[in-house]
Amino acid sequence: MTSAEYPGERLQKVLARRGVGSRRVCDALVSAGRVTVNGEVAIAGRRIDPDHDEVAVDGVPLAVRPGVVHYLLNKPAGVVSTASDPQGRPTVVDLVPREPRVFPVGRLDADTEGLLLLTNDGDLAFRLTHPSIGVEKAYLAKVQGTPSPAALRRLREGVELDDGPTSPARVVFTPPDLLRLVIHEGRNRQVRRMCEAVGHPVVRLARFRIGPLADPSLAPGTWRPLTPAEVRFLEQAAAAGEQRSAAPR
Ligand code: URA
Repeated sequence: MTSAEYPGERLQKVLARRGVGSRRVCDALVSAGRVTVNGEVAIAGRRIDPDHDEVAVDGVPLAVRPGVVHYLLNKPAGVVSTASDPQGRPTVVDLVPREPRVFPVGRLDADTEGLLLLTNDGDLAFRLTHPSIGVEKAYLAKVQGTPSPAALRRLREGVELDDGPTSPARVVFTPPDLLRLVIHEGRNRQVRRMCEAVGHPVVRLARFRIGPLADPSLAPGTWRPLTPAEVRFLEQAAAAGEQRSAAPR
């Protein structure tokens, strides 16, 4: 049987449909030996069963599976990051399609605005919220008062909180009261507690980036699906974090 007669779909077509890139880019990836099917390097013209064969690019499985959705939501203040709220406040799941049912990946405080992922991909959500993964998250905080160089240094080097010191953070200060903070941890009310600990309680807080995911055009209260490339990045970030935490120290 020639490859054209073999049942299934051309690999390049499946890659393109799942958003890996244009047909030309997908051809190039296959020719470069960067695509595997069931763990074996694929050759050009390979046909696959998209429902059963495991396809990976650079070792990362294609993330988009039928029925699995990933949304990026710009959460407004006053909305809680749970599926239901005993106090009857609006929840993030009220802001996205009802079906299929999704849940938030991690959380933002009710009074924090900004980007939040929601998905029904339990495996990815579990891996991304594991403390060892440490996807970068960037926040914009308006604080009370004007932080001194010493306060900024403490934020950058790590602040002692009641659940232990924070890891070093990147902090950019725009006088008189705006801080741009990039952290890897995801502790409860972490940014608020860090700022409070150095004497500058947060007045307003927004998350504007999760890893490479940012979207200044996403209005508060609106959402969009992640692109396949964005989903692949999250898969890669989860896999990289797992490797880091498994490596001998
Ligand atoms: N840090 C906070 O203090 N609150 C959030 O919602 C997220 C990070």
